[in-house]
Amino acid sequence: MRPARVLRYPLEGQQRESALEDSMSKINIAEKFARITEYYKPRIAAELNGQHVKFVKLNSEFVFHHHENEDEMFLVVKGRFRMEFRDRHEWIEEGEFIVVPRGVEHRPVADEECWLVLFEPATTLNTGNVENERTVHELERV
Ligand code: NI
Repeated sequence: MRPARVLRYPLEGQQRESALEDSMSKINIAEKFARITEYYKPRIAAELNGQHVKFVKLNSEFVFHHHENEDEMFLVVKGRFRMEFRDRHEWIEEGEFIVVPRGVEHRPVADEECWLVLFEPATTLNTGNVENERTVHELERV
């Protein structure tokens, strides 16, 4: 696993320069997704202001859960998925995004492969209040 792409101050001299350079490198979304082979296992692509930008591939249904303290943003860059709520659902198409507020139960479902960019606080656990085989505590970088 690569070291965290986070700026830990105080850094000085060369260390600070290389950390800055790393965090300011551009990111090619397709190139990063090509490296992701597992589904429902979010990878950290960047971080800013205590938030993570995560890349994740979906191909089936997830588990109903909610997040006590975090709002989540789901942006579709390839394919489509259905965000299910307890009383309704919404299809999120390529180029669209949805924000799920904290406390709201949700379950992403994809019938075919879907590429998602997530934007949420670094503290967010992928399965929220639920602990199961899909829970990932330590996210790897991509
Ligand atoms: Ni969630």
